[in-house]
Amino acid sequence: MLVIEPSGQACGARVTGCDLSGPLAPDLIAEIRSAWLKHQVLAFRGQAMDGDALERFTVAMGGFGEDPFFDPIEGRQNIAAIVREANEKAPLFAENWHSDWSFLERPPSGTCLLSIDIPPHGGDTLFANQIAAFAALPEDRKDYLRGLTALHSAKLAYAPDGAYGEKEQEADRSMAIRPDQSANEVRPHPLIQKHPETGEEAIYSTLGYIIGIEGLESDQALPLLMELAEWQSRDEFIYRHQWEADMLLIWDNRSVLHKATGGYEGHRRELHRTTIAAC
Ligand code: SIN
Repeated sequence: MLVIEPSGQACGARVTGCDLSGPLAPDLIAEIRSAWLKHQVLAFRGQAMDGDALERFTVAMGGFGEDPFFDPIEGRQNIAAIVREANEKAPLFAENWHSDWSFLERPPSGTCLLSIDIPPHGGDTLFANQIAAFAALPEDRKDYLRGLTALHSAKLAYAPDGAYGEKEQEADRSMAIRPDQSANEVRPHPLIQKHPETGEEAIYSTLGYIIGIEGLESDQALPLLMELAEWQSRDEFIYRHQWEADMLLIWDNRSVLHKATGGYEGHRRELHRTTIAAC
């Protein structure tokens, strides 16, 4: 039986009482899915999972989503390494609030991250609950935001001249990031989205992947996005996730933002990531 311990923060729960290393019964997946929708981020402790188990779990949760701009790890098509070597000098990967691949036409519903090599301190992942962030806004602000469409693009991050582009400082990076001209494509998504499974409204994504608002000049759109970004990441909406060995984390990209943190200089950190397709 699943044992679910809420984090006591804005979202997130720790889960024990299941073994995700072998076959996955449909009842177990249904139970996990409903806990996931409720808590948005689930941390499964004590899971000795290999690549096969990680892929099996991802398929059971909805199948593989698209993973642009990363090469997978050797021997796998759907697992990417989020890795930083102990002596690496490149800027931290994913240190800005974002929802994974929000610039795709059909962004992924979730992400799985499996601990491989965890530093003795630091390297927490932060989450911001965007259902709570929207619910706490004044009603007239909610109405205004509901009418806006955001323009998403990966260009600031993954275009050849983007943050993970072909700059000299990127030469040191151990992650297999592959910048590409296709990052310049732009796709519109409503700024406020109804969760396709729960119907709850959430603020969808933030500065890293949003380059404008349809119908607004940039001198109007940018201050609005900056003000919103500050609101979205207020302390009361945050869950700080601390990593352990043998831990699988899954989060719901439709209802939380996340970001990486540092604080483990001189130590190696590696996690294996899969993407759960849109449903
Ligand atoms: C990610 O955004 O996928 C990485 C998060 C982390 O490294 O903590």
